Amino acid sequence: MTKLLAFAGSTRNGSFNQAILDVAVEGAREAGAEVTLISLADFEMPIFNEDDESEHGIHANAKAFKELLKSHDGFLIATPEYNSSYPALLKNAIDWASRMEEGEKPLEAYKGKVAGIMAASPGGLGGMRALAALRLLLENIGTMVLPNQRSVAKAGDLVDDSGKLTDEKTTRFLKNLGRDTAHLAQKVSGN
Ligand code: FNR
Repeated sequence: MTKLLAFAGSTRNGSFNQAILDVAVEGAREAGAEVTLISLADFEMPIFNEDDESEHGIHANAKAFKELLKSHDGFLIATPEYNSSYPALLKNAIDWASRMEEGEKPLEAYKGKVAGIMAASPGGLGGMRALAALRLLLENIGTMVLPNQRSVAKAGDLVDDSGKLTDEKTTRFLKNLGRDTAHLAQKVSGN
């Protein structure tokens, strides 16, 4: 069965990005994919430093995250926009998992994988600049990013107090993004 790993670049309580990710996950599951939904808060990776890595090797939590990426065929990623780009939390996690250990191929966690990406922001652009930056990053490390990304603007008006997306049209689009990511991951991986 096709396996997708889903995570958001925000660990904030009531995160809008977590809300939109949940919908894409639903779409992928409805399309038959097995989806592992994680929070980066559970991994607590220190800020990457090559000196620490030389001394202690890859941090155990970063290794656990990398192993998860490696064991999935594709990813669903929802990113906030911080100062026109994706947040350090997301970049730090991606950087850690890009480090090669003995017996691994370069960028093994990312190469040949597919990703569906989305963003949500209370602002009018919906995080589209963060999406453009994230797309470039992922493509440069060998992950194919689906063209139908979604930036959700004015997210504060579309997510209720329980953290659920309430807008029908946005829900439909995000579910389709989850479905399309599952289908492409299945085609590419053969799983
Ligand atoms: C922001 N925010 C923001 N929003 C945006 O649309 N463009 C931006 O450039 C920024 N910059 C920015 C910088 C920093 C440091 C913070 C903390 C916030 C607002 C951001 O979109 C908002 O806090 C979202 O609610 C974050 O996403 P989650 O946590 O709701 O998923």
